[in-house]
Amino acid sequence: MTKIKKHFKKQPVKPDKRTGKVTRRTVGGGSVDVPAPVLRAWQELSGIKDPAKATVNAAKFRQLWRIFTSGRERISPELLQDPGAAEAYITGFHLPNAARAALLCRRIAQRVGIAPGAKPGVGSGVRLGDWLGKYFNHQRIFDLGCGSGAWSQVWLSEVRLKRNAVHLIDVSPALLEMAAKGIAYVRASMGQNASLYVETVAKEIGQIDFAQFDAQKNAQQSGSDAPDKSLDVYILGYVWNELIDDRTGRDRILTRLDSCRTAKRNALLLLAEPATDEFAWDAMALRDQLCAAGWVAIYPCPTGARACPMLNAEGGVRDWCFSEGGWRKPEEYMKLEEDTGIAHNKINSAIFALASPELARQLPKMSPSLIEQSQVVVGKPSVPGGRPGREKGFSYLLCTPDGLVKTAPKRIEIKFAKPRGSTVSSVAKP
Ligand SMILES: C[S@@+](CC[C@H](N)C(=O)[O-])C[C@H]1O[C@@H](n2cnc3c(N)ncnc32)[C@H](O)[C@@H]1O
Repeated sequence: MTKIKKHFKKQPVKPDKRTGKVTRRTVGGGSVDVPAPVLRAWQELSGIKDPAKATVNAAKFRQLWRIFTSGRERISPELLQDPGAAEAYITGFHLPNAARAALLCRRIAQRVGIAPGAKPGVGSGVRLGDWLGKYFNHQRIFDLGCGSGAWSQVWLSEVRLKRNAVHLIDVSPALLEMAAKGIAYVRASMGQNASLYVETVAKEIGQIDFAQFDAQKNAQQSGSDAPDKSLDVYILGYVWNELIDDRTGRDRILTRLDSCRTAKRNALLLLAEPATDEFAWDAMALRDQLCAAGWVAIYPCPTGARACPMLNAEGGVRDWCFSEGGWRKPEEYMKLEEDTGIAHNKINSAIFALASPELARQLPKMSPSLIEQSQVVVGKPSVPGGRPGREKGFSYLLCTPDGLVKTAPKRIEIKFAKPRGSTVSSVAKP
């Protein structure tokens, strides 16, 4: 999150050709869209179209933003309990959170070889849901610390299987209510041939009983003749850091993720944390811990199950890994940014996707391109080509299956530089 820059006000507005309804503006290259049902839910639930409400919510959002950016460790669980605070939260934070989720969906699709920007000729145009739908007929989404439900709404918009269950878990009943209402908009866009079960759980993560969810699923499954080809999706959106002093909460998550190996569950973990050193390192450590237990990173890492070279300072480079991307904002959101002076320009976020050991076993068949060698941008110089006369410089720091590689200094227009987290096929190596 950055302070708004004046020049954004002068950018021309491009009408959205896809929906024809919501005007959005592009910020940054290769931008992602928040899916239309998620956007519609935000417009209704935030009250952004009501000028009086929008003014009150903008002021409250400003206060929340100050608290969130002045030290996340000071965030009190009571902060978002009140419905007014929940509405202000959804007004300001929901769309950037949804944009991060959309970016991860796009990047996973590219990595598995099904989205634009992936290798040509590998079934471009296939959606993430179509791909997963070939292997699974049922998914359970566990949105842990779901807030306003941005992540599960985006995931469900992108990935609709035959049967879907969303478990929204948070300590704030006010946010849970918002999250469930948002899911209803996604449900309305789902069509008849997919079922959706939604449950809100107003509990501390440390108090969740996953066995209950499993019993519920088994009971539902027992009446069905369809083979159980089930996928679990665990979402941790900007919540792992909030559990830093909550050993019970973290242990509950780790135990559940570990049980995916013993129970041979097909599962995905979607993890996002702020793109600062401490939070990103903590997320990278979680990634390494899971990979040591048989999970495989499918984004951004090209290293699969190998320990993260950046976290382990291979080649003397200890840096933190985060992804970058642009997102196309709706006009109302741009106006909110102008009114509050708070702009979410580029997406900068430490985002990871990991496959459980059972799912990882099937990945070579599901996506041969995933296991091919690739190089991922994990660092760029602030001065294109490095600083002449001071250090050798590099154009990109790449994470490769063989470790970190610095590319030969080359003057690149920083505006057009490849964003962190994107894959490059051929670059000059030193
Ligand atoms: C920064 S918000 C992120 C919301 C959402 N995951 C997203 O990315 O859009 C963190 C959320 O986690 C919830 N939370 C924090 N600690 C929790 C805990 N121990 N148990 C359940 N929810 C928790 C908060 O109430 C808040 O809604």
